[in-house]
Amino acid sequence: MHIDLESSWNIGPVAVPTRVVLAPMAGVSVQAFRRQGRRFGAGLVCSEMVSCAGLSHGNERTLGYLKIASDEHPLAVQIFGSDPAVMADAARMVEAAGADLVDVNFGCPVRKVTKTGAGATLLDDPDRACRIVESVVNAVSVPVSVKMRRGLENGSRAALSVGPRLVETGASSLTLHPRSAKQMYTGTADHTLTTELVQLVDVPVIASGDITSRARAQAVLATTGAAAVMVGRAAQGNPWAISEIVRATGDPGREEVVAELVLFMRETVRELGPERATGFLKKFYGWYLGRGRFPKPFKQELVRLDSIAEVEQRLFAAAPGARDVLAVLEETLPAGDEITLDLPISVYGGG
Ligand SMILES: Cc1cc2nc3c(=O)[nH]c(=O)nc-3n(C[C@H](O)[C@H](O)[C@H](O)COP(=O)(O)O)c2cc1C
Repeated sequence: MHIDLESSWNIGPVAVPTRVVLAPMAGVSVQAFRRQGRRFGAGLVCSEMVSCAGLSHGNERTLGYLKIASDEHPLAVQIFGSDPAVMADAARMVEAAGADLVDVNFGCPVRKVTKTGAGATLLDDPDRACRIVESVVNAVSVPVSVKMRRGLENGSRAALSVGPRLVETGASSLTLHPRSAKQMYTGTADHTLTTELVQLVDVPVIASGDITSRARAQAVLATTGAAAVMVGRAAQGNPWAISEIVRATGDPGREEVVAELVLFMRETVRELGPERATGFLKKFYGWYLGRGRFPKPFKQELVRLDSIAEVEQRLFAAAPGARDVLAVLEETLPAGDEITLDLPISVYGGG
């Protein structure tokens, strides 16, 4: 079946205008990333996971607190934890902050998270997973979605038995990243499991894993029957991957790349503060300027600079026309009124 990537679909009452969902990625999915994702055609964006544990003991190492802007909607905020009551409290806060969906993380393979009984471990404890979903669904009136791996061990099919139970318990949509937790990001996502899951549930399924192009997105939608695809690593420093998938657009010029990067830097400084942003942004320089867009030594030079102001200067010197592109961008961007959510962004991400 051919699905128009620009067609709208629904998760419960929430209308999602395109078939591309921007993946939650810890250490990546800051507000600038999500707003940019929406601008480039993602129908739904998702915050990286916020820790419910931070609610009861505020001593976790965190990146900061989640801030939501008015132009991010529809937005899912992802929570993780292992205690149904604490998860319900977090979900209420997420709803009060204006999220359109609460997403529950049953996919994180990182040891620091799984050893607390959260993330992908819950695929091995379906009763607890159901209690968490039930408690979250009862706590909020917005739809609740769940993001899963295929299971813990290689070859596991746990998602196919747990997924339908979560839907019976009240989940309004499921995202499947069909790698095992053990695999982390190695090997390939086995979307034959996505096909099976779609056949087992009557809610929309989102296919996550290795969606890097329009052709791949169309093939996965057609073969799995999923309602949408999720794009993660392909969109790191590369929002053009989203517009290529949704609208078949071409590659950006250097001016556009620099303008988007500088905008991203400025927004991130506003969100995280200059000190945190300086280190946080370094990985983005390589991501934006790679893919043959700029020579390698240039990226290495930027990473070595001490301040973001110096990086901006070097970028504009390399692509002077970017100033005008940025000015237009900044003028047309909607002002993002912000709400800060009192939930910490965990540094231990993954899913
Ligand atoms: C750096 C990084 C951080 C991630 N953090 C999260 C997270 O916080 N929550 C989550 O559900 N998945 C997380 N994921 C998994 C992605 O959402 C996605 O399912 C996975 O990367 C596969 O999609 P891709 O091949 O398009 O990257 C993360 C992935 C990466 C690469």
